[in-house]
Amino acid sequence: MIKLGVVGANGKMGQEVVKMAIAAQNIELVCAVDKLNIGQNIYNDVYIEGDLNAALKVHDVDVVVDFTQPSTVFENIKIYMENKVKSVIGTTGLSDEQIMQIKEMSKSSNTGCIIAPNFSIGAILMMKFAQEASKYFSNAEIIEFHNKKKKDAPSGTSIKTAQLMMESNNNFKLGNCEETETIKGSRGGNYNQDGKGNIQIHSVRMPGFVASQQVIFGSDGQILKIHHDTINRECYMPGVKLAVEHIFENNDFVYGLENIL
Ligand SMILES: NC(=O)c1ccc[n+]([C@@H]2O[C@H](COP(=O)([O-])OP(=O)(O)OC[C@H]3O[C@@H](n4cnc5c(N)ncnc54)[C@H](O)[C@@H]3O)[C@@H](O)[C@H]2O)c1
Repeated sequence: MIKLGVVGANGKMGQEVVKMAIAAQNIELVCAVDKLNIGQNIYNDVYIEGDLNAALKVHDVDVVVDFTQPSTVFENIKIYMENKVKSVIGTTGLSDEQIMQIKEMSKSSNTGCIIAPNFSIGAILMMKFAQEASKYFSNAEIIEFHNKKKKDAPSGTSIKTAQLMMESNNNFKLGNCEETETIKGSRGGNYNQDGKGNIQIHSVRMPGFVASQQVIFGSDGQILKIHHDTINRECYMPGVKLAVEHIFENNDFVYGLENIL
């Protein structure tokens, strides 16, 4: 039985993880942490606690799942490593540098950690197909659509997609002429690594969307669009459960759900 802690248990994703844990045969929910609704009973004798460090010291937790917010997730991860509690990180907004630091911390503390910017299988396939298509096209841009409450932009999924695409092609062109932005930002943000890459990412935020992404490829005379829509948050839970099971059995550092599928 995997003893699970949920951090951000009061949030939209956290509530889904709580439901998944309660329904799972091999998971026991032992701890819930959030900044809001502290003291609320969420299941049997599990109450929302406000002090993460204290909660991990009191409860016997095998794995935590973190869906909190970009400004606090890095500090939370340090606490998981200090307490030697394995973690599954769904919270987005970590920089490449922070991810490298977490990899080092995971190794030096011998504490497993999985970071996945997207837990939905359809989104993983979208990224794989985009990586494959990148070999054959000269231009690529990404448009990602999220709910108005999303705090970070561009999305972790769009950055991860761009990283994978650049593994296949690090020489995408921008436009094909000298461009001028009459309104700053019109052409989106440019994702590149050490000046190589050139994938424009555009972020849309409005009510109605959960999470969608379109990767558009162009070359002379043709356009290819790869589009994924998340309809509701249940779609993430098989991936979250798989990550919890993987890190319980193993003690490695993983970035991206595709590496354990
Ligand atoms: N990886 C994925 O597949 C995936 C999918 C959806 C959302 N996300 C990401 O997950 C994160 C959470 O999304 P959400 O829609 O559930 O947001 P949300 O705002 O509904 O929930 C976040 C919760 O975390 C709590 N919180 C904030 N700081 C905290 C801290 N330091 N300690 C404990 N609790 C804290 C908040 O009070 C809130 O209840 C975002 O970064 C989002 O982009 C990732």
